[in-house]
Amino acid sequence: MVGDGVGAFIGDVHRKAVLTDGFSVFTAGCFSRDYSNNLETGKKLGISEDRLYKNYFEMAEKEGKREDKIDYVIIVTPNSNHYSIARIFLENGIHVACDKPVTITSDESKELKNIVLEKNLLFLVTYSNIGYPMIKQARKMVLNGEIGEIRMVMAEYAQGWIPPKIESANGQKKIWRFDPKTQGKAGVIGDIGCHIENLVSYVTGLSILSICAKLDVFGRGFELDNNASIMVKYENGASGVYWCSQIALGSKNALRLRIFGEKGSIEWEQENPEMLKIAMRGKPLSILFKGDDKTDVISRLPGGHPEGTYEAFANIYRDFGKALMCKKELRNQKKIYSDFPSIDEGIQGVRFIEKCVESQNLGSKWIEI
Ligand SMILES: NC(=O)c1ccc[n+]([C@@H]2O[C@H](COP(=O)([O-])OP(=O)(O)OC[C@H]3O[C@@H](n4cnc5c(N)ncnc54)[C@H](O)[C@@H]3O)[C@@H](O)[C@H]2O)c1
Repeated sequence: MVGDGVGAFIGDVHRKAVLTDGFSVFTAGCFSRDYSNNLETGKKLGISEDRLYKNYFEMAEKEGKREDKIDYVIIVTPNSNHYSIARIFLENGIHVACDKPVTITSDESKELKNIVLEKNLLFLVTYSNIGYPMIKQARKMVLNGEIGEIRMVMAEYAQGWIPPKIESANGQKKIWRFDPKTQGKAGVIGDIGCHIENLVSYVTGLSILSICAKLDVFGRGFELDNNASIMVKYENGASGVYWCSQIALGSKNALRLRIFGEKGSIEWEQENPEMLKIAMRGKPLSILFKGDDKTDVISRLPGGHPEGTYEAFANIYRDFGKALMCKKELRNQKKIYSDFPSIDEGIQGVRFIEKCVESQNLGSKWIEI
């Protein structure tokens, strides 16, 4: 793992998720630029000191030369580092799992794809929300045509943690998210708007034709957007509205998806992920729970036993792990099917972020994507 020294946020979720199915063990790391933190984190995880590296270049190069080298690296650092870290590991023949957004420019993400193809490696982008069992169920129902041709998608991701002025954020570990040098050109779009783009694309299979984005920067001293409203046109003629916000006081991690088709609609909420609200034309509203007769989603526990964020991450790592095992045993196999977000979804997400910023800079004009 690169990133997630003691005190960091999401890396610990990755670590627990990765260990869930026994596909992986942690053998090496560069958890922090601060070597004492790196040592402290590594020792807690039982990693031998000779595989705790001072920087990620050293780790990629030394691991790449070992007979028992790591199979893959997990990258959980601030966004601007993803590209150079992923690149050096790929160049050393090591598969990559990287958190979103995969890079801060689409040129960088395309370059990573070229290396992935050239070296025949796997690349997972940890868009974790597609790992929820009821999201798999929603996708199946939509792709089976159960709600008919899609007409409208409403998706929102609301959080309310942004302080009223930037000075109040000093010292917080999230501070790098306010700096374009570390976060990239987009604030809330880059942080959580890209989850919306990926989730809608996964569940509906729709491709975006064009978008019109209005990005707001609220609060004193902030440079990057923290509230965004985006209108979307899809290739099948359907419309979409995406809202993402970090100034939505009272909201914790409120990701909500509503899909309206000609025959019915489906609704899902991340904070209540075990159920889908389903409305079919002419029938009463129904609620489908994980474990109901009509669901055949991959879940780890029977209905009524809640699964959440850790399991969603574990599910995408399970599929990545399966693909990796397959690749290790069948090196000549050309196509490996697996249900995890790859570098292509990573590129699509970064392009979406860039296009939102471009639309805003043109005075919130409609632009093709
Ligand atoms: N998939 C999700 O749901 C999800 C959720 C939260 C964050 N994220 C993404 O995960 C990434 C990390 O976010 P976070 O909130 O955990 O950040 P964080 O600030 O809590 O942790 C970042 C860690 O990276 C380390 N780091 C920075 N530069 C490094 C370097 N050169 N070498 C080694 N370690 C280095 C820091 O010391 C820190 O331990 C971001 O890209 C973010 O967008 C994804």
